Amino acid sequence: MEDYIRKFRRELREYFQTRNVFLISSGRAALTIVLQALYRIAGDDSKNEVLIPAYTCYSVPASIVKAGLKVRLCDIDKDTLDFDYSLLPDVISTRTLAIIPCSLFGIPSDIEKLQNIIAGKEVFVIDDAAQAMGVLIDGKLAGTRGDIGLFSLDRGKNFTTIEGGIILTNRRDIAGQVEKEISSLNGYTKVSQLVILIKAIIISQILRPSFYWIVANFPGLGVGGTFYSTRFSIKNMSNTQAGLACNWRENLTRFNLARKENTEYYYSELSGSHKFQCLKSNPDATYHRFPVYINGEEKIDIKKLELLGVSQRYPDSVDNIPELEYKDENNYPVASSVPNELRCLPTHPNLKKSSRQRLVQQLKKLFLPPRAPGSQSKI
Ligand SMILES: Cc1ncc(COP(=O)(O)O)c(C=O)c1O
Repeated sequence: MEDYIRKFRRELREYFQTRNVFLISSGRAALTIVLQALYRIAGDDSKNEVLIPAYTCYSVPASIVKAGLKVRLCDIDKDTLDFDYSLLPDVISTRTLAIIPCSLFGIPSDIEKLQNIIAGKEVFVIDDAAQAMGVLIDGKLAGTRGDIGLFSLDRGKNFTTIEGGIILTNRRDIAGQVEKEISSLNGYTKVSQLVILIKAIIISQILRPSFYWIVANFPGLGVGGTFYSTRFSIKNMSNTQAGLACNWRENLTRFNLARKENTEYYYSELSGSHKFQCLKSNPDATYHRFPVYINGEEKIDIKKLELLGVSQRYPDSVDNIPELEYKDENNYPVASSVPNELRCLPTHPNLKKSSRQRLVQQLKKLFLPPRAPGSQSKI
């Protein structure tokens, strides 16, 4: 049997122009390993805090805790969902081991600005491009802009092997330590590889608008639902997963083009409305989901929206995740307001023009009062 792992690693090295690539069981596993490696390299027990945006995927704080480190938060910019960089300098301290910009929904974080802020400080930058694979920023690919980067290949990502994670770095010292961290990991059993194949078949079928009700009703399938847990395994990626990645470059390019086209449609239909507020347009972004604020006082029926394929994504800001028991004296007013207002529309490549059109029509019907005869409002 061809060694798909070796082939996938070689292709990734070429595509990302990165000397060292490691394949692992998930994005969470990748992040945990990276953090453990960086902590060992820093060699200073007091450097045990990791700074992340106060609104992000729950897997990010879960990985920090799993690595035995402490979560530190910075509020976000509502227009980019990136750090509010004006607040960042006050949150960085001598205890800060690493900072993780998350390029949420495929909107690239401003890593250049971050690097200017931390210039001269001994802080690692982890370019978490779990949601931004294939995104190009000023000629540089997301995931390659920090000391180390990572991707998730989980269901619903820009391209998927059902579960999987990639670590990449050009820094020899970090690569050496990551290599040590993963040298003792187990792999997947034959049965668990078979389960992945079965899931691949099911998921390729349900990622269609007429099946959104399945996604909405069976969070166990892992498409869309978000919960906090540190109980995830850390394994080496299997040959089966790497095999699912064959033709990944062509697919990634094709899928990301489809996502961009879906995004343009949503922008043209929803921006300029008093009810729907799109984020500041970023020409580099490849929206892995299309985030839009729904303004107004009325309670948004999340279940009804989920049946349309519209999700809330993260139900709360990171400081409010109960299991995390996060305590500090700061507030995160922007991050804590976002979950109530932000909703995400599907951009995946299986979305047909007619389906996205129907989705937008239904959203307007739900949130915009019927137009009075003769009125001129845009939507
Ligand atoms: C920003 C970010 N980092 C890390 C992860 C973890 O990836 P995985 O789901 O493969 O564990 C995710 C997952 O969606 C993510 O969005």
